[in-house]
Amino acid sequence: MNIVQFSHLISVAGLTAILILSPLSAVTAAESVDFKTLKSPVSYSSASIAKGKALYLRYCTECHGADGKAQIDVIADATDLTEPEAYYSGTSEGEVFHSIRDGAGVAMPPFSFQIKEEVDIWHLVNFIRSLWPTDQQPALAK
Ligand code: HEC
Repeated sequence: MNIVQFSHLISVAGLTAILILSPLSAVTAAESVDFKTLKSPVSYSSASIAKGKALYLRYCTECHGADGKAQIDVIADATDLTEPEAYYSGTSEGEVFHSIRDGAGVAMPPFSFQIKEEVDIWHLVNFIRSLWPTDQQPALAK
């Protein structure tokens, strides 16, 4: 192969790499979500809170306790969910969603494997906000 053929080969390889890699980087960019401003598609309603509560009782009490306070019979160091000031990872609806779906800190496991429908994670977000002091809860949707 002479030098012209060789450099042609290199540029074809380079172009192929660009064509293969650029859609990948587009996907990565699309996934970098700003959770602080991410809005819930599920309104804060009694029906949603009830669904979230059922999921909470099934998946979360062993560490956070039935009342969310993580005080009695629970695995150490889980956040008191009734106290927004105690949260380390943010209290906007998107940030709470992120903590539940993807895990938080060192010991909060991600739940995306067990709770597959994102709508169910949003129901959990709504239930958790219903544990907050009344003046910090969102307005209940009719
Ligand atoms: C294996 C124990 C465990 C289970 C089960 C668990 N959590 Fe947690 N969770 C933790 C710990 C520990 C933390 C504190 C993480 C840290 O160090 O910041 C936490 C933190 C959180 C936070 C973030 C609070 C903050 O500090 O910002 C939320 C929200 C939360 N948990 C919700 C849930 C929900 C909802 C469930 C059930 C779907 C659940 N957790 C199940 C252990 C658990």
